[in-house]
Amino acid sequence: MLNTCLFPAAGYGTRFLPATKSLPKEMLPILTKPLIHYGVDEALEAGMRNMAFVTGRGKRALEDYFDISYELEHQIAGSKKEYLLTEIRELMSACSFSFTRQNEMKGLGHAIYSGKNLVGDEAFGVILADDLCINEDGAGVMSQMSAIYEKYRCSVVAVMEVNDESIQNYGVVAGKGIDGDLVMISDMIEKPEPAKAPTNLAIIGRYILTPDIFEVLSTTAPGKNGEIQITDALLKQAQNGMVLAYKFKGKRFDCGSVAGFVEATNYFYNLEKKC
Ligand code: G1P
Repeated sequence: MLNTCLFPAAGYGTRFLPATKSLPKEMLPILTKPLIHYGVDEALEAGMRNMAFVTGRGKRALEDYFDISYELEHQIAGSKKEYLLTEIRELMSACSFSFTRQNEMKGLGHAIYSGKNLVGDEAFGVILADDLCINEDGAGVMSQMSAIYEKYRCSVVAVMEVNDESIQNYGVVAGKGIDGDLVMISDMIEKPEPAKAPTNLAIIGRYILTPDIFEVLSTTAPGKNGEIQITDALLKQAQNGMVLAYKFKGKRFDCGSVAGFVEATNYFYNLEKKC
C-alpha cells in the first residue's frame, strides 16, 4: 500500500498571468474546486493519506486551503451555505498535510528531490495538479497505477499518445510492450524535437516512484533547459532495473494551458449537470 502522494507545486504558472501573479496556479478552480483539490481526491481514492506538497514563494494559499478558516467557519456555521464546506472538511479529516519549499526553480526532478524528507524511505505517488485526470468508468488514474505498482514493485509513469506537434512538450518513452497497457521502458527523453521523438507516448503528470529515485536524483546532472529532470532519473532507474509506462484509462486535461483549462471546465460542468 502506498501512503504518500507528493505534489510538486512550486511553478509560476506564467501561462495564467496576470491571475497567477498572486494566486498559485494550483488554486485556479474548475467549477468550485481548485485544481489541487482534484489531485488530492485522486490520491485519496488510491488509498494515500499523507499529502506532501513542495511549494515555493507566493504559494501560501495552498497551505491555507487545507487548514481551518475559523473566521469563515464561524460566519457560515448554521447558515444555508454550510454544506458548501462539507467536501473540503471531509477531505481534511481523511488526510494529513505537510509542506516544504523548493527555494530554487531547478526543474521537476529537483522539486521531487526537495520533498525527500516528507516522503521517507518508501514508494510514493506524484501528482502534477495541472494535469487533471478523470475516469468516469472506474478507478482513478493513481489508483490504476497503484495496482500496477503492487504487482511489479517498480516505478510507473502514466503515458498517453499525443500528436506529433505536441510531443515536444512532454517527456517521451520508448520500450517493449509487455501487456496490453504496459510498456517496459528502454528509452526516455525529455521534450524532444519532434523529429527526434522515439514514439508519440507522452508522460503525463502521474508517477509512482520507488525511494531509490532520491539517490538517483542526487547525482542527476541538469538536462533539458538546464533543469534536473525526473525523466533523466527514471531512465537511469530503467537501465538499472525496470520502469513501466502505463497507458491509463480515462481522460486527462492539460490545465496548465488556457485551452485545456476551458475544456476541463466545460467537461466538468456538463458532468455536474448530468448528476
Ligand atoms: C513535466 C515533465 C514532463 C511531463 C510533463 C507532464 O513537464 O518534465 O516529462 O511530460 O510534466 O505534464 P512540464 O509540463 O512541467 O514542463
